[in-house]
Amino acid sequence: MKAVHCKEFGPPEKLVVEDVPAPTPGANDVLIDVKAAGINFPDTLIIENKYQFKPPLPFIPGTEVSGTVAAVGDQVKHVKPGDQVMGFAFVGGYAEQLSVPAASCFPMPETFSYEQAAAFTMIYGTSYYALKQRGNLQSGETLLVLGASGGVGMAAVELGKLMGATVIAAGGNLEKLAVCKERGADHVVNYNDADWKDQVKALTSGNGADVIYDAVGGDYTKTALRCINWGGRLLVVGFASGDIPQLAANLTLLKSSSIVGVFWGASLTKEAQANQDNFKQLYQWSMEGKIQPYVCASYPLDQVADAMNLLLQRKAIGKVVLTTGETQ
Ligand SMILES: NC(=O)c1ccc[n+]([C@@H]2O[C@H](COP(=O)([O-])OP(=O)(O)OC[C@H]3O[C@@H](n4cnc5c(N)ncnc54)[C@H](OP(=O)(O)O)[C@@H]3O)[C@@H](O)[C@H]2O)c1
Repeated sequence: MKAVHCKEFGPPEKLVVEDVPAPTPGANDVLIDVKAAGINFPDTLIIENKYQFKPPLPFIPGTEVSGTVAAVGDQVKHVKPGDQVMGFAFVGGYAEQLSVPAASCFPMPETFSYEQAAAFTMIYGTSYYALKQRGNLQSGETLLVLGASGGVGMAAVELGKLMGATVIAAGGNLEKLAVCKERGADHVVNYNDADWKDQVKALTSGNGADVIYDAVGGDYTKTALRCINWGGRLLVVGFASGDIPQLAANLTLLKSSSIVGVFWGASLTKEAQANQDNFKQLYQWSMEGKIQPYVCASYPLDQVADAMNLLLQRKAIGKVVLTTGETQ
């Protein structure tokens, strides 16, 4: 089968596409004929050996796919060959076939295209876990999302609205932020404006945001902590800016606020039941048409470098996916 191979750590241009043996599913696995695979920022870090999860070389990157079931192991009962499914794994997704444990394979909501299904698991799984379990976001609160037009950010905007919050989408590009508005954001703020902290304050009657979802890091985080409400929760989700900020502890004292870490990947095993419940809710919202991944571009496997560079050059809106061929 054709697959994207990471044989040496480095930028996306170092990736090669070549023929490799297809995976063989075990008794409790599902073999998926991949139609589409989602690109996430962590994929761009893993190939550079800059992520907390470090697979040995060589490996096939890619964590989430959609496609049809090619074969199932003896123990697998919930899907059968031919079914349309979504699958999740830590590596192996940028390929024509992927074998995943049965517990990581779900029927695809019929409301989704293959591209949308491949763009679903990581961003909604992360953002719902962040807002619900880590942020305890309540209806009527104000949610500020940093990096709102990116993958996890746009999911946080949609989910924040479904959870009853007033949502302020923050980002560095008004054209990208306009899509957040279309997808439910109540307000947008350009965090390249010198006074963006004051803009957030003005939008919250001087109080600041109750929950801040931060996928960006750097100076953006430092400023955000100055426009958090009393009792607010700053969710540390990611550092897309490339800068891990050092924060002044006195700011948390002044607002009785909390800085809360979010590691969704590890929570899948450490908080398995919570994540299963989350996915039940997310699946229901998908079937009701209340959430729909926004895919701005799709590329064939052999253009993986162009696809990843859209994220690295801050040109992506929502999600970018790779496709293996026909996705209709
Ligand atoms: N904690 C977890 O469990 C978890 C799970 C998934 C992802 N993450 C992390 O969350 C972050 C976002 O992931 P994603 O897949 O949503 O990425 P993405 O789609 O590329 O979105 C990142 C956003 O960050 C903003 N940004 C600011 N400075 C940037 C820079 N120098 N380079 C690139 N983007 C920059 C961009 O918006 P503007 O251009 O508008 O500024 C962009 O839309 C990453 O750090 C990722 O590792 C964490």
